Amino acid sequence: MKVLITRDIPHNGIAKLKQFPELELDTRTGPPLAKEELIKGVSDADAVLVVIPDKVDKDVIAAGTKLKLIACYSVGYDHVDTDYAKSKGIFVSNTPGDLTEAVAEHAFALMMAVGRRIVEADFFVRDGHYKYWDPLIFLGPKMMGKTLGIVGFGRIGQHLARMAQNGLHMDILYTDIRKAGKETSGVNATQVSMEELLARSDIVSLHCNLTEETKYMINANTLKLMKPYAILINTARGPVVHEAALTEALKNNWVAGAGLDVFENEPKVHPELLKLPNVILTPHIASATREARIQMAGMAVDNVIEVLIKNNQPLNWVNK
Ligand code: DGY
Repeated sequence: MKVLITRDIPHNGIAKLKQFPELELDTRTGPPLAKEELIKGVSDADAVLVVIPDKVDKDVIAAGTKLKLIACYSVGYDHVDTDYAKSKGIFVSNTPGDLTEAVAEHAFALMMAVGRRIVEADFFVRDGHYKYWDPLIFLGPKMMGKTLGIVGFGRIGQHLARMAQNGLHMDILYTDIRKAGKETSGVNATQVSMEELLARSDIVSLHCNLTEETKYMINANTLKLMKPYAILINTARGPVVHEAALTEALKNNWVAGAGLDVFENEPKVHPELLKLPNVILTPHIASATREARIQMAGMAVDNVIEVLIKNNQPLNWVNK
């Protein structure tokens, strides 16, 4: 049985698969596969392990005539046409829970870095502008006691809430479109409407899935509801934010700053964002702790083993 692994992933995953001689591994390295290569690769594969840049659309799925499983090396699976896969009887799996701390920590880091203008200040020093101490440069907000609004109060949102509340005594507001009055552990948080969250929060951090409902949820209208000195953090999915509207907001001081790990047309970044000093941009690395990436590899291949070797449903089946 052939398993296509579209990118180099931590080798604990490959080593696990190698324990099964009945599996033939087609492991690819280098940049993401072009669509034609992906189609060719899946055409004789029994399972494919895909990463975020692999767009697993109808053409790719239809080419996988033997395909039993599309195993995402990610929690998000908006890059896979899960409904079409289901119509073909193909399982889709993900790796939930493996990157909770990693993503929450990255959101926290972006929040602090934007607020305290760390990247701007670093460039200032490197560019030779640090000639004397100045009482008025790089002023930012005190973070202690501020209000943090979390959009999407799942595992990651709640972990960030705990860090912000335990570490910085922040007040936590949240919205969650899927569940009212979510169970929360170890954090005192108040569920409010989106409008109230945007109007009251000093920092807004996005942790929702990308769906029809959340696409462009942050747009010109919603950005104008935010406080002029508020900070927006996005470690969820790029299209949740209308990037052109955000550039306007950052230029016209509707908001004070933003920290973005994900982009509307990844890996392309809106050209205006690249010019703005009040935004920090990272290349979709929120899950990039060694621990999380190793755990992701283990979980992704466990799904492959479950389906191909044990003839079961995947452990983390998302297109039921
Ligand atoms: C995910 O898993 O969905 C992240 O965006 C990438 O690790």
